[in-house]
Amino acid sequence: MNSFREKYGPVAVVAGASEGLGAAFAEALAARGVDLVLLARRAPVLSALGDRLSSAYGVAVRPVPCDLADPSFVDALRDAVADREVGLGVYNAAYSFVAPLLDRPLEDSLRVVDVNVRGPLRFVHVLAPAMRKRRRGGFVLMSSLAGFQGAPKIGAYASSKAFNIVLGESLAAELRPEGIDVLVSCPGAIRTPNYAQAARKDAPGTLDAQIVAERTLEALGRRSLVIPGAVNKLATFVMRRLLSRAVAVALMGKNTADLSG
Ligand SMILES: NC(=O)c1ccc[n+]([C@@H]2O[C@H](COP(=O)([O-])OP(=O)(O)OC[C@H]3O[C@@H](n4cnc5c(N)ncnc54)[C@H](OP(=O)(O)O)[C@@H]3O)[C@@H](O)[C@H]2O)c1
Repeated sequence: MNSFREKYGPVAVVAGASEGLGAAFAEALAARGVDLVLLARRAPVLSALGDRLSSAYGVAVRPVPCDLADPSFVDALRDAVADREVGLGVYNAAYSFVAPLLDRPLEDSLRVVDVNVRGPLRFVHVLAPAMRKRRRGGFVLMSSLAGFQGAPKIGAYASSKAFNIVLGESLAAELRPEGIDVLVSCPGAIRTPNYAQAARKDAPGTLDAQIVAERTLEALGRRSLVIPGAVNKLATFVMRRLLSRAVAVALMGKNTADLSG
């Protein structure tokens, strides 16, 4: 048995797994011999991915079609993991809209909160108790470079990503003594279908989803926050340490000005 599976297996749950980075996490975990429970809304896409990963890597995959904005997803998740030992939870799904906050109905911002804030809280509450009993396990919470400062046109999303940074760092400190590793991953742009829809061209430092998934899983258990990619690490150092917050927000605004969606 490999050491990743011993530490974070035999089963991992990936929330938001049907495409893009979520599918890359699922594949990187399958390649490590970990069985999977995969959550997303589109049942056929999820099943096709599950079939491909089971035949390529010989792992068991359980697709769980559900909407993470709906609180009842916790019942589907509890049922799906009742007879399995989950060693890792990856909360990858996110909802975002690109527009000045007040140009969109309040419901859109509340959906950001449902998927990106309430979702990971519910997810951790379902999976953590069994890990605490076993004194073993891990969580990955997906955040973003957008979570480090204000971000015009993606304000609700950026705020939700700031929440995940602080939540993840807090949980990492609380759960480390109990044998559970918590990691917040803060990538810059990733080539996912969602990003391709919003961006006209790749931003500097844009990474493939497979690279982000690998860099994130490599950092699990070593630190509580990872910024995948050298360009993104450098940009974060400049934005957070060298520039004033006001200038950092203005720079973010220049970057998000070109986004649409
Ligand atoms: N893409 C980037 O450039 C970028 C940059 C920095 C950080 N990130 C972060 O990385 C993560 C993934 O990025 P991404 O947005 O590009 O997504 P992604 O991994 O390409 O896809 C989102 C996944 O989540 C699922 N999903 C979305 N809403 C859902 C819901 N309400 N219920 C259940 N499943 C849902 C989607 O499947 P269904 O449609 O089938 O439900 C899909 O499988 C996010 O947390 C994002 O904030 C992304």
